[in-house]
Amino acid sequence: MAGDASTVPVVTIDGPSGSGKGTISRLLMERLGWHLLDSGALYRLVALDALRTATDLDDEAALVALVGRMDVDFRLHPRRAEVVTLLDGEDVSMDLRTEDCAAAASRVAALQGVRAALLDMQRGFRRPPGLVADGRDMGTTVFPDATVKIFLDASAQERAQRRHKQLREKGISASLPALVAEIEARDDRDRNRAASPLVPAADAYRLDSTRMSIDEVLEQAVSLLGTKGLMHGPK
Ligand code: DC
Repeated sequence: MAGDASTVPVVTIDGPSGSGKGTISRLLMERLGWHLLDSGALYRLVALDALRTATDLDDEAALVALVGRMDVDFRLHPRRAEVVTLLDGEDVSMDLRTEDCAAAASRVAALQGVRAALLDMQRGFRRPPGLVADGRDMGTTVFPDATVKIFLDASAQERAQRRHKQLREKGISASLPALVAEIEARDDRDRNRAASPLVPAADAYRLDSTRMSIDEVLEQAVSLLGTKGLMHGPK
């Protein structure tokens, strides 16, 4: 690795899905002009690769070998303001969002061997001028020495409503009570699993976005980064 990566600043944004961390991470990355690590996408990529190659989702050794072969890249889309995910050079962004892939990702993410195999890959994203890392264990396990750690949360009801709205916008109908139940079950699994459970780092700044707009969350995050000398100028 060129230079000393440990001197490159990192901002970690951890929290459950639906807390707004993906949106905030992308906005911060653009504001700072830094790199972005969407670690959830890595677990989804392992899952997608496993589904495509008919690898057994319980075969930890085979999944670890698959991680070693994966060629992953994230690029800013040249026209749309979004990040695209490439697996072996192919844009798989849409495939990663399917429910099948999410369900498989949550299974592979519970395997300690898979988490360990992804550790170096995640740390490899730490490159100048800086990194915004989005996930569940960025501040606790992957970048414990991060410059700023944010833990973004929201009530299960609010996160279900956000998901409901997203699905409606895509023309997909879903029952709100079923979404709340699904989110609560996933929270329970994520917060209570043995390998890297979803918990705020002791030194994380905790933000509850339940009654906040994205702009308000962004403003708080930017002002926090400002106090650490990471923002230059008012914008
Ligand atoms: O954030 P997401 O929905 O794309 O994450 C996909 C899965 O990966 C989800 O089950 C949580 C898990 N995950 C994890 O265990 N650790 C991370 N750092 C990021 C995601």
